[in-house]
Amino acid sequence: MNNKKFTPLSAQRCRDEGRKFTMMSVYDYPTAKAAESAGIDALLVGDSLAMTVLGHADTISLTLDEMIHHVKAVARAADRAMVVADMPFLSYQVSIPDAISNAGRCLKEGRADAVKLEGGKQNAPTLGAIHDAGIPVMAHIGLTPQSAGQLGGMKVQGKSLEGARALIEDALALENAGAFAVLMECVPAEVAALVHQRLRVPTISYGAGPACDAQGLVAADVLGLFDLFLPKFSKRYANIGEQIRQAFQAYRDEVMSGAFPGREHQYALPEEVAHALAAELDKSPD
Ligand code: KIV
Repeated sequence: MNNKKFTPLSAQRCRDEGRKFTMMSVYDYPTAKAAESAGIDALLVGDSLAMTVLGHADTISLTLDEMIHHVKAVARAADRAMVVADMPFLSYQVSIPDAISNAGRCLKEGRADAVKLEGGKQNAPTLGAIHDAGIPVMAHIGLTPQSAGQLGGMKVQGKSLEGARALIEDALALENAGAFAVLMECVPAEVAALVHQRLRVPTISYGAGPACDAQGLVAADVLGLFDLFLPKFSKRYANIGEQIRQAFQAYRDEVMSGAFPGREHQYALPEEVAHALAAELDKSPD
């Protein structure tokens, strides 16, 4: 692994040279630091943080200020990895000037290297305008959780003939508009492979099979920190949530039994001060 900053150009080089790269959704400094030192190339500060960290039922409530707060923490940890800020619901749909200035805040205040937008070809003008403002933009198609209401839930996309056709059209329109990469979430592997073959820019899979240039997973799923559900495409590599629970339980049990704090966790008072204090208190009327 080299230490040079991973950029949209590095992603394109991976695609051109047939090398894979990796992405992980992370939201805080320690997790980003671990991902960075494990050699993950791109850190997505995904709006999944609304659910996995902030306890919301979906991603809709996340604000741009909340996103930027987390992007700042991740960016502080990322010397090499590319940091991608996920633009929250209604931070880019209202108007193009609004979208440009909100994407700009992710870079200026958050210090992200790029932004990501959910949505298909209807979003191409917005994505193009952000790109024309000099901001690297990643497109996100397939399952786009911000519009889960319209999609009829968190469902796999592109399973029908029309759906597959629409995904290919979306990907091409977004590439033409200036997307430096196209991320596909919950798309049949065969359809993602067809999209991949037709694009020049790198493709990223969050549940879109092995043909893509990059694979991405959500850190909370990988670590076992979010246990409400695990998407079919995701893989748990550790059960940190259970380890945290066991550590908290052990701490509580030790407090109740008196085992904690032990001598080694207490600050000692010098003996002469202890004697002087006791003598003084003995003399005092109370
Ligand atoms: O928010 C997120 O982590 C994402 C990925 C699931 C693509 O958007």
